[in-house]
Amino acid sequence: MIAGMPGDSQVYLNGEFMRVDEAKISVLDRGFIFGDGIYDVVPVYQGKPFRVDGHLDRLQRSLAALRIAPPMDRAGWADLVRELAARCPEPYCIVYLQVTRGVARRDHGFPAASIAPTVFGMATPFTPPTPESLARGMTAITIADERWLHCEIKSISLLGNVLAKQQALEAGVDEVVQFRDGWLTEGSSSNIWVVSGGTLLAPPRDNLILEGIRYGLLAELAQEAGVPFEARRLSRQEVLAADELLVTSAAREVQPLLMLDGKPVGDGKPGPVFARLRAGYDARIAAL
Ligand code: PDD
Repeated sequence: MIAGMPGDSQVYLNGEFMRVDEAKISVLDRGFIFGDGIYDVVPVYQGKPFRVDGHLDRLQRSLAALRIAPPMDRAGWADLVRELAARCPEPYCIVYLQVTRGVARRDHGFPAASIAPTVFGMATPFTPPTPESLARGMTAITIADERWLHCEIKSISLLGNVLAKQQALEAGVDEVVQFRDGWLTEGSSSNIWVVSGGTLLAPPRDNLILEGIRYGLLAELAQEAGVPFEARRLSRQEVLAADELLVTSAAREVQPLLMLDGKPVGDGKPGPVFARLRAGYDARIAAL
């Protein structure tokens, strides 16, 4: 039994598709022992992957950052995403791809001999936000960002993110908004956006945040909607005084954050900039 996952779900492991309850890896896999691996998450709508090029570019960057040789080429990854999505029983699914350095005797340094990376993939159904959930919006608390200094790598070492998310759940909210030394970074598994005086603002793309695939997309949608966009450091005061706050990620898409630390954001309702960006996002999905 795997909690929360039907045992007959199909997954991919090292070249083969199989039932999730039959997929096994070695206890010496460096992903298991050290968190020595990377992942990516691609949303798929009725069999059509969304912004897959951006996800596969980021996967390559993550592999390069860990100096893991790509286990397959670009076309191979694109096929894998499509094949996993085809095995997903629901129309909307999240395709998860993970690569670890592989299996070797436990030693912190990379193994001297070249080893085969472990490649894992699965597709799990997700429920895109509904008009009702978007009207309700999301809630969050602010916390200090206590993660490491390479948040730009989509690493499977996610303890900081896991503990941050658990803090949100125990506070009865959906997400955290993290600050490092008083400057906005991101959520536990999402990017955070500020709207102030009609301008869309986000922290710079540096080592302190993961550059979401929706980061570039929102900048594009803002331009199309005539909303000025600026990437710069954002203080806690600016975030608390925002007219609107937005949250983006593969599964959250783009959503309004309407309550922060128990206080309404702006007038507590989804704002006009959110509405324009959301319309653009919906149009992109419809055009797939
Ligand atoms: N997380 N920042 C962090 C720390 C994230 O984990 C994510 C996504 C994002 C948004 O990235 P994107 O727009 O590419 O989804 C930002 C994924 C969904 C996850 O870990 O499941």
